[in-house]
Amino acid sequence: MAAAEGVVAPGRVAVVTGAASGIGLSLCERFVAEGMRVVMADVEEPALAEASAALAGQGGAVLPVPTDVSDADQVAALRQAAMAEFGAVHVLCNNAGVGGPHGPLWQIPAGDWEWVLRVNLGGVINGICAFVPVLTEQDAAHIVNTASVFGVFAGALGPYGISKHAIVALSETLHFQLQSHAPHVGVSVLCPGAVRTRFGSSARNRPAWAGQVPEPTDAERASADRFDQLSATGADPADVAATVVAGIRGQQFYILTSSNRNDAILRRGSEIVAGGPPAPPFP
Ligand SMILES: NC(=O)c1ccc[n+]([C@@H]2O[C@H](COP(=O)([O-])OP(=O)(O)OC[C@H]3O[C@@H](n4cnc5c(N)ncnc54)[C@H](O)[C@@H]3O)[C@@H](O)[C@H]2O)c1
Repeated sequence: MAAAEGVVAPGRVAVVTGAASGIGLSLCERFVAEGMRVVMADVEEPALAEASAALAGQGGAVLPVPTDVSDADQVAALRQAAMAEFGAVHVLCNNAGVGGPHGPLWQIPAGDWEWVLRVNLGGVINGICAFVPVLTEQDAAHIVNTASVFGVFAGALGPYGISKHAIVALSETLHFQLQSHAPHVGVSVLCPGAVRTRFGSSARNRPAWAGQVPEPTDAERASADRFDQLSATGADPADVAATVVAGIRGQQFYILTSSNRNDAILRRGSEIVAGGPPAPPFP
C-alpha cells in the first residue's frame, strides 16, 4: 500500500494520453505540480505543442509526443520516447477519448463505430500492451483508465457508452490479473460524470478514413445537446485531477467524480438480479 502512495511523487514519471485538453491536461498539470516528469501524448498536435510549452514554461519536465492512441505502432513509439527521455514510467493514464454519434445502433455508420471503438477501447488496449511490461519492472506503478459514469449504468449513448462499459470490464480483468502477476502495479478506472472540457467538439479529431459525417437526426441532435449541456455545467477538470491523485494514493479502483448517478448504478445491479429490463437512463 505504501508503494501506491509513492507513485505520485517528485521524480516519478507519468504518461498521459489525451493530454492536450480537458481531463488529460489537468492530470498533467497536477502531476507537474507534484514534481513528476510527464509525457504528454495527443493526436491534436498544435494543441499539444501549446499545452506542453505552457507547462514547460512553468518549469515542468514535460515531453510532448504526438500520438494517435488507436495505432498500436504509435503507442509503442510513445513508450520508446518515454523510456529514452526519462528511463522509467510509473503512472499510465489511458485517457484519450472521443464522443461519436448517439443514434440508433443499426443506423450508426461503420466509420463511426470503428473510430469510437478504435480510439476509446483500442487506445486503452494499446496502452496496456505497450506499457504493462515497463510498469511491472518498476518498484511501484499505477494505471488509470478513463471510462465514464456511462460505463457503469445502463446508459444509451451509442458506441461511446458501449466503449466505456468495455473499458470498465477491461480494467476489472486487468486488476485481477495484475493482482496475481504484479501486485505492485495498481489499477483504477476513472468514471467521470460531467466535466467542463472540449469533449463536445471531439469530432474535431475524427479521421478522414471514418467517412463523411452524416447529418444528425433531430433525436440525435437532442441527445448530443443534452450531453453538451451536462458537460458545460460539469466539474472543473482540475478537481477531477485532484480526485484521481487521491484515488491513486488511496488504492481506489472505481473513481467516480459525482454522486448524481449513484441510484442508476445501484439500480443496474438490482435489475440484473431481478431479470431486468433496464430503466431508461434519462427519466
Ligand atoms: N467531459 C466529460 O464530461 C467526460 C465525462 C466522462 C468521461 N469523459 C472522458 O474523459 C476523457 C477525456 O475527455 P475530455 O472530456 O477531457 O475531452 P477533451 O476533448 O477536452 O480531451 C480529449 C483529448 O483526447 C485527444 N484525442 C482524441 N482522439 C485521440 C487519439 N486518437 N489519440 C490521442 N489523443 C486523442 C483530443 O485531442 C483531446 O486533447 C475521454 O476518454 C472522455 O470519454 C469525459
